[in-house]
Amino acid sequence: MSAGEPGGRYGEAVFRPEQAGEGARIDFGALAYDDITMARLRALGAGPGWSCLDVGAGTGTVSGRLLDEAGVASVLAVDRDVRFLRERPGLEVLRADVTAPDFAAGRRFRLVHARFVLMHLPEREHVIAALAERVEPGGVLVLSDAVDLTSGLEGPATPYTAAMRAMWQGLRETIGTDVSWVPSYPRLLRRAGLVPVAAEVHVPPLEPGSPLSRFWADTWERSRAAMTATGLVDDAAVDAAVRYLDSEECAALSAGMLTAWGWKPAGAGPVSP
Ligand SMILES: C[S@@+](CC[C@H](N)C(=O)[O-])C[C@H]1O[C@@H](n2cnc3c(N)ncnc32)[C@H](O)[C@@H]1O
Repeated sequence: MSAGEPGGRYGEAVFRPEQAGEGARIDFGALAYDDITMARLRALGAGPGWSCLDVGAGTGTVSGRLLDEAGVASVLAVDRDVRFLRERPGLEVLRADVTAPDFAAGRRFRLVHARFVLMHLPEREHVIAALAERVEPGGVLVLSDAVDLTSGLEGPATPYTAAMRAMWQGLRETIGTDVSWVPSYPRLLRRAGLVPVAAEVHVPPLEPGSPLSRFWADTWERSRAAMTATGLVDDAAVDAAVRYLDSEECAALSAGMLTAWGWKPAGAGPVSP
């Protein structure tokens, strides 16, 4: 590892799946974003007959809703750690690192979906190209990740903006998380040979006591060491930010979710291994 490179991976240095409450943290995020994700996937046509790949499936809420609500034919749910995923009719579970070159080799899907995964992977450009390979002709690749509209704002920091800035910097230095790439996803999808491409952003309301509020509080708890190591916040500032989230003082815009999608032209060539 050279200076400036992250020293760990998602699930190792932070967000360890074996740490109590990690499944609940992912579920709080899912509660805030699943309806938006499902509306987009259904608008793109996900439904009966579709084979789907859910990359970094987490606790499997999107995989399950694709089967139960959209009525897709099958979902392959892949994660580096599959303890929160259960096989059931239509749902196949695969433990794999999606940065590996032979990941899901030889298989193609009508829908390839990855939410809140690529932003944590330093190899994201390579992974986008690999995921585009897994889309069958006429199918669609859908990527969702965080966009933070407030970290760059001028003016005095609030407990929330201070914590968010420290979180993004701490995660970047620890595991390579980088959300500055996310607005370029449409261009990266186009570069991967997908056409047409499009994107949208949704920012759910950050209300005290909401699942989204719990999600950020839990995320800061799990990132606390990385946040304080930046020197931007200390433990007292993280505690203050958690209290602020749950108080009537809270006046903050949550990070949003950018969803970008691109279509594999019908008649595209055979899958590479
Ligand atoms: C923030 S969670 C998102 C879970 C789910 N996609 C969602 O939106 O609810 C990120 C997930 O990606 C998985 N993940 C991270 N790096 C991975 C990798 N290199 N290969 C496979 N899965 C990975 C994690 O284990 C975790 O379940």
